[in-house]
Amino acid sequence: MFLKLLAASVLFFAWSLPSGCPPVLGKTPLDSTRGLKDYYAKYFPVGVAVSPRALHSDEAALILREFNSMTPENAMKMGPIHPEEGRYFWRDADSIMAYAQRNHLRLRGHNLCWHNQTPAWMFVQDGKPVSKEVLLQRLKDHITAVVNRYKGQIYAWDVVNEAVSDKPDEYLRPSPWLQICGEEYIAKAFQYAHEADPGAQLFYNDYNEISAVKREKIFRLVKGLKEAGVPISGLGLQAHWAVNEPSAPQLDSTLKRFSELGVKLQITELDISVYPKEHNARAARPGDEDTAFSPVKEQKQIEVFKMAFDLFRKYRRNISGVTFWNISDRNSWLDNFPVRGRKDHPLLFDQALQRKRAYAEVTNFQGSGHRAD
Ligand code: GLA
Repeated sequence: MFLKLLAASVLFFAWSLPSGCPPVLGKTPLDSTRGLKDYYAKYFPVGVAVSPRALHSDEAALILREFNSMTPENAMKMGPIHPEEGRYFWRDADSIMAYAQRNHLRLRGHNLCWHNQTPAWMFVQDGKPVSKEVLLQRLKDHITAVVNRYKGQIYAWDVVNEAVSDKPDEYLRPSPWLQICGEEYIAKAFQYAHEADPGAQLFYNDYNEISAVKREKIFRLVKGLKEAGVPISGLGLQAHWAVNEPSAPQLDSTLKRFSELGVKLQITELDISVYPKEHNARAARPGDEDTAFSPVKEQKQIEVFKMAFDLFRKYRRNISGVTFWNISDRNSWLDNFPVRGRKDHPLLFDQALQRKRAYAEVTNFQGSGHRAD
């Protein structure tokens, strides 16, 4: 009898352990059948930026287990999708869209108007700078063609990306868009997108949104667009953050301030670099070769991830999506920025696609006062 009881309790113990992942000591064990999208089901969709190649790799299983939203990392940007006037390259964008449809993931479109990754022909006509009229017509043609193709399939678009300047005493970035068209290109881009798909949510998207100075400029832009009746639905906070910023008060006040706009907020490009934040590309210097994911780096990153998700849950009424920029630490744009070739580890999954310790923290809602149910 005693042996039978012992065998039964051993069996019960083995059954009660989640398969495939060790229990986290002192925490709720992680369940390998649930992903971020399930933990956050009552909060917001959780998304990831992808390349078409990733969807045919071993990362695909991770995507389907963890996420319910995707953003094409590059495939829908103006340069890749519209390389020559009147010639579009749809293959990569179409394949991401088809994958999202087949697997019932939401799709965010990224992006329609930006100063980077713009095709060279866009700003030139007959060897001279293009006129305002022609440039606005080109912008309209581009936005109409791209938004129309994915009408009803892409639920939200980043319409204008990074129009605000990083310089403290400058409001808007002096991009060719601004220099040739003046400020109205921003409102026009939203109007063109709305005309092409009146059902799509339209976002303004920017980075360094936690800086008190830039935050106010972004606030001013979005508020002005709303007041002018421009069809803007929301603000995208890129959230390219690091182990030393933002602080909890800085992020809390950022989310509070932007909530006053009365538009949807989405975290659109989240990653937490394990290096202190730097805003400009630079050459490697001594010390940069130390790229190991040390326990010290890991602990600092855990704290920022935990703090950020605690606050995302606090602002659940305003935040309608959180998207990570890249899938796992295997590949990140931060491996080449600010220092080319310096390996970073900015995501929740390691290079072997395993959940990092930070994962347990962002899915453990105890003590934060913002419960799953
Ligand atoms: C910006 C853009 C993204 C991406 C990242 C870094 O944030 O919005 O599309 O290019 O930079 O890769």
